[in-house]
Amino acid sequence: MRALARVDLGAIERNCARLAATAAPAQLCAVVKADGYGHGAVPAARAAQAGGARWLAVATAAEAEGLRAAGLEGPLLVMGALTGTELDVALRARADVVAWREEFVAAIAARGPAGVHVKLDTGMGRLGTRDVAEADRVAEAVAAASGLRLAGAMTHFATADDDPAFMRDQLAAFRPWADALASRHDGLLVHAANSAATLGEPESRLGMVRCGIAIYGMDPFQRDPADHGLEPALELRSYVAAVKRIEPGQSAGYGRRFVADRESWIGTVPIGYGDGVRRALTNNADVLVDGRRVPLVGTVSMDNVAVDLGDEPVEPGAEAVLIGTRGGERILAEDLARRLGTINYEITCGISPRVPREYDE
Ligand SMILES: Cc1ncc(COP(=O)(O)O)c(C=O)c1O
Repeated sequence: MRALARVDLGAIERNCARLAATAAPAQLCAVVKADGYGHGAVPAARAAQAGGARWLAVATAAEAEGLRAAGLEGPLLVMGALTGTELDVALRARADVVAWREEFVAAIAARGPAGVHVKLDTGMGRLGTRDVAEADRVAEAVAAASGLRLAGAMTHFATADDDPAFMRDQLAAFRPWADALASRHDGLLVHAANSAATLGEPESRLGMVRCGIAIYGMDPFQRDPADHGLEPALELRSYVAAVKRIEPGQSAGYGRRFVADRESWIGTVPIGYGDGVRRALTNNADVLVDGRRVPLVGTVSMDNVAVDLGDEPVEPGAEAVLIGTRGGERILAEDLARRLGTINYEITCGISPRVPREYDE
């Protein structure tokens, strides 16, 4: 196979079981937006449910529609902003939606029935109202509308991964409003925590946790997922398609960004930025070739990268692992993210549709 993302659904299931146990009695909501952070939303959602996720969450109406079309049942939340047309799609998918303006409540009520979660912006500065009085008006409008169910009260943390003090300030701003609302409305689901908060701040777990990155076995703190007993679910691999001798002064790849200073063996691996291997990894990554860690050399092209095999050539066809573990060697999405100055989320979301996903149960 030229390029393959192998997804271990058992790992997603076990990660969810671990998160569900950690969060209990709070429920686990598995966040499977952006095609399950690049892993495949439908298989990831099924594995998450098998691991004990009671809820699923996505960002868009089309994502909700896709899950229902694939036969996924159970509570489903669309967390993103919705236009009128998208609201139609979300409600047809029997998804709960998020509201923070009274006009939007009227738009939902005109289409209903639906479950609605009211969002207070406690510091993320994105979706939600900053005004507690407005949040109350929105909630009471939902409760009063026939066909609508006031299902949840929510907020979202801006810094759960790197500034726990600000997260605690957000939680302190959220709790009085949400608790008061819950005391007036039986069964209201109160939720705030993402993966980092779930793992780092027990007080944030409330009635439900919304975990994305951790269910895929990646570390929200950009360190080692094993620190939290999480197993990376995705492996990205290709193979060595060509092997050639290179002499001092000869180069590999566009722009001659790698020029050999000694005799060596160069392997060509047919995967590139067209597959999501970012060009900024030029001369700045490792690949596991037949389990041996070798440097990626030269410019990442759209469809190929080169690796320096040193004095040990391999046969064409040798395996090349860009994300994954072989023996004692391991390349994490977190490692690539560090080299790129980004986060693991962007690494797996960035694996392009050209790369087939294959699933291990
Ligand atoms: C509103 C909301 N809740 C929860 C999550 C899940 O976050 P994480 O992947 O960090 O667990 C996201 C994802 O960004 C989100 O936008």
